[in-house]
Amino acid sequence: MSDLAFTDTARKRLDDLIDITEQHLKILRFKAIEGISERSDIVDAMWYSVSAGGKRIRPVLTLEFCSVCGGTERQALSAACALEMIHTFSLIHDDLPCMDNDDYRRGKPSCHKAYGEAEALLAGDALLNLAYETVAADESLSAETRTSLVCELSRSTGISGMIGGQVIDTTYKGEFSEQLLINMYSMKTGALLKAACRMGCIAAGADNEHIEAAERYAGNVGLAFQIIDDILDITGDESTLGKPVGSDAQNGKITYASLIGIDAAREKAAHFTQKALDELCIFENNMFLKEFTSYLLKRNY
Ligand code: IPE
Ligand code: IPE
Ligand code: MG
Ligand code: MG
Ligand code: MG
Repeated sequence: MSDLAFTDTARKRLDDLIDITEQHLKILRFKAIEGISERSDIVDAMWYSVSAGGKRIRPVLTLEFCSVCGGTERQALSAACALEMIHTFSLIHDDLPCMDNDDYRRGKPSCHKAYGEAEALLAGDALLNLAYETVAADESLSAETRTSLVCELSRSTGISGMIGGQVIDTTYKGEFSEQLLINMYSMKTGALLKAACRMGCIAAGADNEHIEAAERYAGNVGLAFQIIDDILDITGDESTLGKPVGSDAQNGKITYASLIGIDAAREKAAHFTQKALDELCIFENNMFLKEFTSYLLKRNY
């Protein structure tokens, strides 16, 4: 990840959180293949995409919100990894020919290019289910916490969350107003980020005031994040991004950047980032979150 806007302490914290996530994802992979052939194509296809990398923004947020609410990383680890699986499933499906038809993801051929369309579809479905199982089966958490976390995951993924947003993105044929774009971004991108932050708080046993501030933070981060993603789709470098540039234009997509122009879109992203930063004041030890939030605005991938 680019070092823009990071102090050494924050850089180290980010590396640690990514490392914790990736180590646990490996453990979950081994657990998942118990009882089935290690050479199962579907497991290979799932882990091809999960282990390809990615910025791991959502698990980092889950772990860090748990930490700033006084919890341990272990308490949020299942939720963090489950969310990364769901995010990866969303990317696998997003790249399919019936969606954005992109051949390149996380610096490698997209899942359907490497394994075929049917396998990619099923690998996405399997990751979604493994995500729920991961949280529901974590015996280190109370039944109440597991239920809350599974609710967060399923609601944020479903028809009023990521999938609902992807439906608008893929099928809406009418004119896009700025408000409709905001609504769509809140769903397709914001919903999983809200789940990331809310789950970190819930895993730590935080009160509603903190959970709601984390949700407002994530709503603003989600809008800024998708606007920057749209800008990078125009101005980014393909090898740095690890995914194609020009995909939105090729698919005739209206984005924030195409609707109001790149400079105005960048200003909007800065505005939403500031609103997100404002929500962090009730959290103690929020230095890393502040730096991470600023990094997300300045990122070049
Ligand atoms: C890409 O998300 C899809 C969007 C919601 C814009 P990321 O930019 O977090 O993708 P990875 O996980 O780093 O590959
Ligand atoms: C976000 O939008 C898609 C998901 C919710 C998976 P994009 O279609 O712009 O994401 P990228 O640019 O392909 O990563
Ligand atoms: Mg898309
Ligand atoms: Mg896409
Ligand atoms: Mg994009």
